[in-house]
Amino acid sequence: MEMEKLVNFCKQYGFVFPGSDIYNGFANTWDFGPVGVELKNNVKKCWWKRFVQEDKDTYGVDAAILMNPRTWEASGHVQSFSDPKMDCKKCKQRFRADNMIEEYSKGTVAAEGMTNEEMEKYISDNHITCPHCGGFDWSEIKQFKLMFETSRGTVDGAKDTVYLRPETCQGEYVNFLNVQRAMRAKIPFAIAQVGKSFRNEITPGNFLFRTIEFEQMELQKFCKDENSMDIFADYKARALEFVKDMGLNPEKLRYHDHDKLAHYAKAACDIQYKFPIGWEELNGIHHRGTWDLSRHSEFSGKPLEYLDPDTNEKFIPTIIEYSIGADRLTLALMCEAYEEETLEDGTTREVMHFIPAIAPYKAAILPLIKKNHSEKALEVYNELSKYFMCAYDDTANIGKRYRREDVIGTPFCITVDDETLNNNTVTIRDRDTMKQITLPLDEVKAYIEEKIQF
Ligand code: GAP
Repeated sequence: MEMEKLVNFCKQYGFVFPGSDIYNGFANTWDFGPVGVELKNNVKKCWWKRFVQEDKDTYGVDAAILMNPRTWEASGHVQSFSDPKMDCKKCKQRFRADNMIEEYSKGTVAAEGMTNEEMEKYISDNHITCPHCGGFDWSEIKQFKLMFETSRGTVDGAKDTVYLRPETCQGEYVNFLNVQRAMRAKIPFAIAQVGKSFRNEITPGNFLFRTIEFEQMELQKFCKDENSMDIFADYKARALEFVKDMGLNPEKLRYHDHDKLAHYAKAACDIQYKFPIGWEELNGIHHRGTWDLSRHSEFSGKPLEYLDPDTNEKFIPTIIEYSIGADRLTLALMCEAYEEETLEDGTTREVMHFIPAIAPYKAAILPLIKKNHSEKALEVYNELSKYFMCAYDDTANIGKRYRREDVIGTPFCITVDDETLNNNTVTIRDRDTMKQITLPLDEVKAYIEEKIQF
């Protein structure tokens, strides 16, 4: 589905609303609605289960968003986390020069390594016009800082600049020794966290794809350098497996190895997904060498070394990072799940084919006739909703209610009717096949719990 159509669909069915909607929105911000918040929470839960809960060598943290500003000097963000921007003097729109060059050259020119002067020359030589108004009157290219700044008063009147973190991983690096000691962790081990990051992005967002506030699911594996490439390959494989298991079509997924590497890195690879806007990065797996821990050792004065208990050797571990955006993955999953299906009788229905583990509601409880069956149906709802998210709907005819659940991806509709009152059985309709089975009421919980496992 086209991105614009998806934006409207998400608003209509309670997945995602424009941020600050009543004030005409706020560019590149979005609010998750009652359906979307369940979906994204489930995405985060599945990631945590796969990479933290089921991995005995991975430990979770939830670090502060506001960190000592020295962190961002050590990481290099204060000095160089910026994008080259230029303004169209005619329509006053702002653009990223590197993106414009890459789009113009259809990816054949890598603007990443160019200086501002080289980019200005390329744009001028090729007469690249404003994508908004078609004009050709550009400002000079300037670097635009991507970190949001705020301030903290320390003594009366004085203020220190602090930053909203642009990535979560720094909270993992600075806690390397704390976690290692508290958990008596032996290398190789990983620290993971899920949390908000903030970037002052100037590019048009493409819905949830690029926003100024987003959630990252990141982990850092600390290892010996000699094992690092095997661990890198392992995370490449696990990251791909994960997104396939979440329901993304393998034909719309591919690896994209980076040609240009940071001076400290041995390898970097993205997994790309074929979004409606084309092939784009979904996640990254990065070999970061000893760069991060070395820099934090230098800037904090605390040696972030590991003492090998077997050899008594002290060294700074190498890091393999795996990082994926929760919002970007949620967007991919919505694009993938949507179907406008033509049924055998020629009618159409809109359906979201989420895997049951991420479906916002696992079951909808539907009394067939409100006045006869709602009391029993509410009993069923009250019982099942202790274990998983259930919807309750007693309005309109049953066919309409099925369609409402299909469109938000509810995998099971449980109908309460006379059979329930007389024999304690219910019918369960499957969202994808639309087939129904009859089950004794006391087996329903186990039936659904088995299906929603990840
Ligand atoms: N710590 C490494 C790091 O942050 P990144 O490639 O900048 O690397 C990792 O970001 C992932 O975070 C991306 O692959 C993407 O899924 C997500 N992401 C990054 N910027 C984003 C933005 N502005 N909006 C939504 N998701 C974003």
